[in-house]
Amino acid sequence: MFKNSIHIILFACFAIGLPLWAMQTNEQGGGNIHNCSGECYKQWREQTGGVVVVAAAQAAARAEASPTELGKQAYVGCVACHGPNGEGGIGPAIAGQSATDIAAKLLQYKNGETRGGQSALMWSQAAQLSDSDIENLSIYIEAQ
Ligand code: HEC
Repeated sequence: MFKNSIHIILFACFAIGLPLWAMQTNEQGGGNIHNCSGECYKQWREQTGGVVVVAAAQAAARAEASPTELGKQAYVGCVACHGPNGEGGIGPAIAGQSATDIAAKLLQYKNGETRGGQSALMWSQAAQLSDSDIENLSIYIEAQ
């Protein structure tokens, strides 16, 4: 008799406890952003804080770099057509030109103007350049 009631109690514990436990773990592991509070929120803040810090460090590194260095980095996208030293290839030689000339030409391409027979090749290139990209590139190419 005693043996039997122990079994019933044990069974009752499982029958009630197991679903309760399952519901609880479900809530914790849900990963629902709206439930993100306490430890979860702290982690999120630390992570995004980290991202902001990394971006700030990158911006600071860019701000410290000289125009020539920045131009050199941007010139990576020009090497295939203008050669590693601006000696020309698919595109004309650009080494030996003044920064002012290069900047003016790049601006023309950026504005979609036709300069030579293959200007279309430069339109897509120049469209991606910001004003400071153009400035840095021109300074770098002139210094070649
Ligand atoms: C897909 C090949 C290609 C790429 C990449 C390219 N160019 Fe050009 N570039 C050309 C061609 C072709 C011309 C001649 C266009 C024309 O007929 O007007 C040209 C022309 C130029 C000119 C004018 C030269 C002159 O004296 O008339 C400059 C300056 C120039 N490119 C700079 C750049 C810079 C800076 C980059 C990198 C951001 C670059 N190009 C990327 C193909 C390319």
